[in-house]
Amino acid sequence: MKRNNLTLSLILLFSFLFLACSDSAVVEYSNGQEVYEARCSACHGKDFGGRVGPAIDASSNAAIMPESYWIQTITKGKGSMPAQRLTEDEVTLVIEYIFSNY
Ligand code: HEC
Repeated sequence: MKRNNLTLSLILLFSFLFLACSDSAVVEYSNGQEVYEARCSACHGKDFGGRVGPAIDASSNAAIMPESYWIQTITKGKGSMPAQRLTEDEVTLVIEYIFSNY
């Protein structure tokens, strides 16, 4: 009887840990590179060289634009670029990540 209770507790504990981890992996990104690869690279290219969207690398027009322009573009969208649903922290992280590659 005691043993069954222990097994049950362990199953519950592991189910909870599994749910907690898988949930955060879907909703939150922990660094800028993760955000970029998940949400930008399909359109702007892994090397920032552009695909469907324009290049946003060091030699692009975007590179000389102020951070406010980036925040606006990412959160509100621009032309055929859809607004990206990201938290404020994720937006800051992804911009820092892109600028750190210039
Ligand atoms: C569905 C494709 C798509 C995704 C996803 C996307 N973009 Fe864009 N992006 C575009 C397109 C297309 C444009 C050009 C919009 C226009 O000017 O009409 C653009 C424009 C931009 C610009 C302005 C470029 C310039 O020369 O002024 C920036 C900066 C930018 N995107 C950054 C990002 C970042 C950062 C992400 C990820 C958080 C992202 N984009 C996600 C398609 C995308």
